[in-house]
Amino acid sequence: MIPLSSRLADAQAHISKTWRGAPRVGVVLGSGLGAFGDTLAGLTKISYSDIPHMPRSAVVGHAGNLCLGEIDGVAVACLQGRVHAYEGHDADTVTFGVRLLARLGVGAVLLTNAAGGIDASFAAGDLMLLCDHLNLTGHNPLIGPNDDALGPRFPDRSAAYDPALRAAAHRAARRAGVTLREGVYAGLMGPTYETPAEVRMLRALGADAVGMSTVPEVIALRHLGVRAGAISCVTNLAAGISPAPLDHKEVEETARRTRDAFVALLSGWIVETAGVIG
Ligand code: HPA
Repeated sequence: MIPLSSRLADAQAHISKTWRGAPRVGVVLGSGLGAFGDTLAGLTKISYSDIPHMPRSAVVGHAGNLCLGEIDGVAVACLQGRVHAYEGHDADTVTFGVRLLARLGVGAVLLTNAAGGIDASFAAGDLMLLCDHLNLTGHNPLIGPNDDALGPRFPDRSAAYDPALRAAAHRAARRAGVTLREGVYAGLMGPTYETPAEVRMLRALGADAVGMSTVPEVIALRHLGVRAGAISCVTNLAAGISPAPLDHKEVEETARRTRDAFVALLSGWIVETAGVIG
């Protein structure tokens, strides 16, 4: 197996042959938000299949492109689609994309995802800024030998979701006229949706929303010292709260319906983030 650092170097070398820019903000586009990548000014789009070692998702709604360009003059690198551990990938593979963003030199990564709402006041279509997470995946991308040159063996996670980026998200939401909730995201392995009993357990543990991504990526980014922020689109009420059985089509449909508000918020958040990281 080629070491992770060599795989990342190969991927970076390919990208810098195609694009000469220096991205300041990285973005991970979750279910239904992929189209945002196509709106970048001066767009350069590189298929994951052309990037050495870059994994591709087989999940509907996850295109596989690295989109490079600008939003309001801020150079960004967007992952249009991510891979998930439930597809059978190990933690290094799941976090390869965000580690690549870090290697491209971004000062912060903003992640988006779809999640089930647990907080009793949430409705499908709400947007929730993550203030913290519960890692209930049973996995951690930092398991194995630690490269001390990259980050510490035992990283602090007192503020996994950067407070200044969170404040920036609220400013962007106000400016865009979008309501932004805030809460704790429980990251589970999936791919099954939860049982009603599991959702009651998650609520008792302090979760406001539940999903199957983001947590490993944020752990890997914080290990590298990269600031991270994340917003969930609450695409459905979690099992047992929702009167109807859960269906991925509903997730996609709500994500589509919420897209314009989410895109407006994300664009503003990118610009605010550029101000925060300086
Ligand atoms: N549970 C887990 N992941 C999800 C959900 C859910 O209800 N909705 C969208 N992603």
